Amino acid sequence: MAVDGYIRAEQVSKVYSKGDTEVSALAEVSFSVAQGELLGLVGPSGAGKSTLLNLLGGLDRATSGKLTVGGTELATLDDEALATYRRRTVGFVFQAHSLMPALTVYENCMLPMIPVPIAASAKRRRVEKALEEVNIAHRAEHLPGELSGGEQQRAAVARAIVNDPQLILADEPTGELDSENAARIMQLLENLNEQGRTIIVASHNPTTLQIAQRRITFSEGVLVPG
Ligand SMILES: Nc1ncnc2c1ncn2[C@@H]1O[C@H](COP(=O)(O)OP(=O)(O)O)[C@@H](O)[C@H]1O
Ligand SMILES: [Mg+2]
Repeated sequence: MAVDGYIRAEQVSKVYSKGDTEVSALAEVSFSVAQGELLGLVGPSGAGKSTLLNLLGGLDRATSGKLTVGGTELATLDDEALATYRRRTVGFVFQAHSLMPALTVYENCMLPMIPVPIAASAKRRRVEKALEEVNIAHRAEHLPGELSGGEQQRAAVARAIVNDPQLILADEPTGELDSENAARIMQLLENLNEQGRTIIVASHNPTTLQIAQRRITFSEGVLVPG
């Protein structure tokens, strides 16, 4: 099952430029992740964790270096192909769940499937399955604002998995939750991992990442050895 080097980062750098100022957010970072692994990204605020997840998720592009996911080098994809990669391969969970406030939980989960060419009935089944998987199906018709923080984040996990992504990227997914709800979200990610999905979770809080099989630590844009 485990395919070594499902993700390969080779000397990946990211520089944000604005006018005359340049911020080096990642500097020549190299690592690899096996398929089916649950990897933790540790490091203080500003270390480059979100930058790396954004590159892996195809939300942004590296300034230099080589980033390969499932045999595809992301730099070779044009914008349209990168959008397809995001939709087909990746599920994102963010810190502030980022659900659309005017849409119900159910409708929010439908959003990632709008461009997917399958029957409406199949889409409905996928949403129902995802909502059941995170134990939030009973709140499907509610607006995000009517849910607790933990329930909102479970809905966000449901939205991330409706397209059955191979890779789940979670950026501080428990950052706004109390410890009990945080533990539930991490348990949920662990369950999704046990079904064979590769998962990368970033957190500035090492306790959050105790479930990770392996952790890599960043500091000021570089990987800390060890
Ligand atoms: N869009 C951006 N423009 C300029 N600098 C940015 C941008 N995004 C992040 N940075 C900078 O890059 C560095 C890494 O940030 P980030 O990846 O968000 O770290 P982390 O997620 O570990 O807190 C920080 O110095 C941050 O200020
Ligand atoms: Mg961050």
